[in-house]
Amino acid sequence: MKIAIGADHAGYLVKEKIKNFLNSKDIEFTDYGTFKEESVDYPEFAFKVANAVANDDTVMGILICGTGIGMSITANKVKGIRAAVVNSIETAELSRLHNNANVLCLGARTIEPERIIEIVVTWMNTSYEGGRHEKRVNLISKLTGL
Ligand code: RB5
Repeated sequence: MKIAIGADHAGYLVKEKIKNFLNSKDIEFTDYGTFKEESVDYPEFAFKVANAVANDDTVMGILICGTGIGMSITANKVKGIRAAVVNSIETAELSRLHNNANVLCLGARTIEPERIIEIVVTWMNTSYEGGRHEKRVNLISKLTGL
């Protein structure tokens, strides 16, 4: 698995923290920015990461903004993307098990900093369950064309 990661100014420091963790585990990633704490517009970064995921099955995305919400709204407009706002270990697990989420959206202002890495690890290590969820996940693309 390779990771495409991106953040706006609100998520920048959390992105750096996640990158340090990925480096420590030799997990390959591409950083799509932002590269500083100056105010930027989250759709730019969400769109880049979403396209990286949509164009390569081996890539999973991680996006961080203040709440994770703007990132998920944008990423979910890209065909093939299932972006989930996750704020706990439980939602990290369920977004993979049931929804086969391929982009993890985190809120730097809404998640306790000490939980972030645990949430990322849980999300990366949990596999899609398939089975009864397959029909529903397929229905998302069938109904929306995305
Ligand atoms: C930026 O202030 C904030 O609106 C953004 O990081 C994000 O939370 C949007 O969903």
